[in-house]
Amino acid sequence: MALRPYIVGNWKMNGTRAALAEARGIDRIAQRHPGVEVAMAPPATLLQAMAHEATHSVIGAQNCHQESGGAFTGEISAPMLADAGARFVIVGHSERRWQHNESDSLVRAKAEAVLAARMGVIVCVGESEEKRQAGLAEATVTAQLKASLPLVADAAAHLSVGYEPVWAIGTGRVPTVQDVGEMHRAIRAVLVEVYGEAGRGVRILYGGSVTSENAAQLLAADEVCGALVGGASLTAERFAGIIMAAAALVEA
Ligand code: 13P
Repeated sequence: MALRPYIVGNWKMNGTRAALAEARGIDRIAQRHPGVEVAMAPPATLLQAMAHEATHSVIGAQNCHQESGGAFTGEISAPMLADAGARFVIVGHSERRWQHNESDSLVRAKAEAVLAARMGVIVCVGESEEKRQAGLAEATVTAQLKASLPLVADAAAHLSVGYEPVWAIGTGRVPTVQDVGEMHRAIRAVLVEVYGEAGRGVRILYGGSVTSENAAQLLAADEVCGALVGGASLTAERFAGIIMAAAALVEA
């Protein structure tokens, strides 16, 4: 793996202050594996507490609003997240795209808002099962990506892409290593088309039912530079196996 592996835990709508003990445990594992960039995206309610305590892992958010402030009840802006200690924001997660009707152009606006607030951004893309069965997985993902990527100056330097097939999220089903490699190569080609050589430095993460059992295999696939982990990132014990699988690839 040419780029420093990036292992990101997306806690989704899980965790209360009792879960801070798990975050501390994850931070200690990160300390033992400096070759791996370990990150966690807790719910917004835990962001400040986790950012305050984390010393070897990076804390970020799962979503933001595209505007920096105003009459948007219930929303949180990118500058507010940065102020609370977030260093990155995930945008365009499929649960946002499908449950909240987020379009590619909205995802792009959010990504640009995150960069304007001087944080890193993870732009997520992924095909539905229907599209994969119709042989349209690559066309769907590359079209989503082209319409969602931030287009501001220097965007590639602070960008990662999360490839998460919708049908693999929370299902225990994963694509074959070959399918993952093919999709990541297609994503890399889009990144180079959009950003030129800088597109080669963007980390592309695989997400969808990653566990300590399958992480080593998935992380070894072509152009996979890390993982976006849901369920298996909720406890230090389960997340540790994934961080160690990434560490084994760089420390080998
Ligand atoms: P699971 O790891 O629970 O499948 O979730 C993946 C995901 O959506 C991470 O963003």
